[in-house]
Amino acid sequence: MEAAGGGELESTGKDEAEAEYHSHDFEWEDLKAEVEANPGFSYHLSPFPGPAGTMNLPPPPPSSEAWRSFHRRHSSGKFFKERRYLLKEFPELLKSNDCAKALEVGCGNGSTAVSVLRSSESTTVFACDCSKDTLQKASEIISNTKGIDVKDRFHPFLLDFSKETFPDWLFCNVCQSSLGKTAEDLLDLSHHKREERPVFLRGNQCCVGGMDFITMIFTLSAIPFDKMPTAIKHCVSVLKPGGLLLFRDYGLYDMTMLRFLPHQRVGFREYVRSDGTFSYFFSLDTVRELFHAAGLIERELEYCCVTSVNRKNGKTMQRVWVHGKFEKPIS
Ligand SMILES: C[S@@+](CC[C@H](N)C(=O)[O-])C[C@H]1O[C@@H](n2cnc3c(N)ncnc32)[C@H](O)[C@@H]1O
Repeated sequence: MEAAGGGELESTGKDEAEAEYHSHDFEWEDLKAEVEANPGFSYHLSPFPGPAGTMNLPPPPPSSEAWRSFHRRHSSGKFFKERRYLLKEFPELLKSNDCAKALEVGCGNGSTAVSVLRSSESTTVFACDCSKDTLQKASEIISNTKGIDVKDRFHPFLLDFSKETFPDWLFCNVCQSSLGKTAEDLLDLSHHKREERPVFLRGNQCCVGGMDFITMIFTLSAIPFDKMPTAIKHCVSVLKPGGLLLFRDYGLYDMTMLRFLPHQRVGFREYVRSDGTFSYFFSLDTVRELFHAAGLIERELEYCCVTSVNRKNGKTMQRVWVHGKFEKPIS
C-alpha cells in the first residue's frame, strides 16, 4: 500500500522532476471510462455509506493523531523530497513581489517549503503542521539545505488546521477589517498591545499582514472530507486580497485510490490507510465547489495525468493529480 508521506513519488522511468510536473500522458476521461466499466472497481463508485453493516462500524480515530504517530515513526526524514517542480507549476512564486509571504499548510518535512524558500531570497515562509516532530525535522532539514539562506525566513508553527483558526499574528482581524481604511483610521493601534507576540514581529507590528501565497500540497486530502470547507475558510482568512492559493493533491481514479480495499473506505472517495491516516481523491468539480464556497476565484484547474514505470517490477502506473490555482478577490 502507498505510504502516507506524500506518496506522490514512485520510481519512474522518466526524469523525476519531469514526471511530477503537470503532464498529460493520457486522457483522464479514458481512465474514467476504463475504471467505471471494470466490475472489480465498482465498490469505489458506490454511494457511501454502502450496504447495511458498514454503518455500524466505529468512526476512525482522528486523522491528525494518526499523522502525529506517522511522523514519530518516520523521524529520519526519509519522506523529504524537494518539490522543485512546484516552481514550474506555479511560476508566480518566482515572479512574486519583494518580500512575499507564503503559508505552507501541512508542511511535513518541508518538501514544499524548501522550494518556496528557494523561489526568492526575499520570500518568507510560515509553515504549519499538526505534528511537532515533523516541524522540528523540517527546521533541521531546511537549515541544513545548501544554497538557501533561511535566516528569519522560515517560521514553523504547530496547528491542526482541520480544527483551529490561524493565529492572529498571521493576519489579525483589525488589519483585515481596516483594508481600505485611511491612514488616520490606522493610527488607532490599540490592538498592537497583543500578548504572545512571536519574536519575529518588529516594533509595533501587530501581524505580518496576510499571505501573498498559500500552498496546499498533498495536505487537504489528509483531513476528513467533512472538515474541508471550514479548514479552507480558515486558510482563506489569512490570504491577502489578490493573493493566490496554490493547490496540488490526489486526483480521482489515481492508481493509489484503486488499490484501497473495500474495508478501507470511510466515505465517498475517502479512504483510511492501515496506519490511520486519511486520503481523499478529488474530482475537479469537488475542488471547484470547495474553493468557490470559500470565496475564491478559479484561475487554473486541471488533472495532471502521468504514466510512470516502476523500475523494480516494470509495472506501469497511471497517476492522477489535481493542479489548481485560486485567487482571493480584491474587493
Ligand atoms: C502528505 S503530507 C504533505 C506534506 C507537504 N505539504 C509536502 O508538500 O510534502 C501531509 C501533511 O499534512 C499534515 N497534516 C495532516 N492533517 C493535518 C492537520 N489537521 N493540521 C495540520 N497538518 C496536518 C501531516 O502531518 C503531513 O505532514
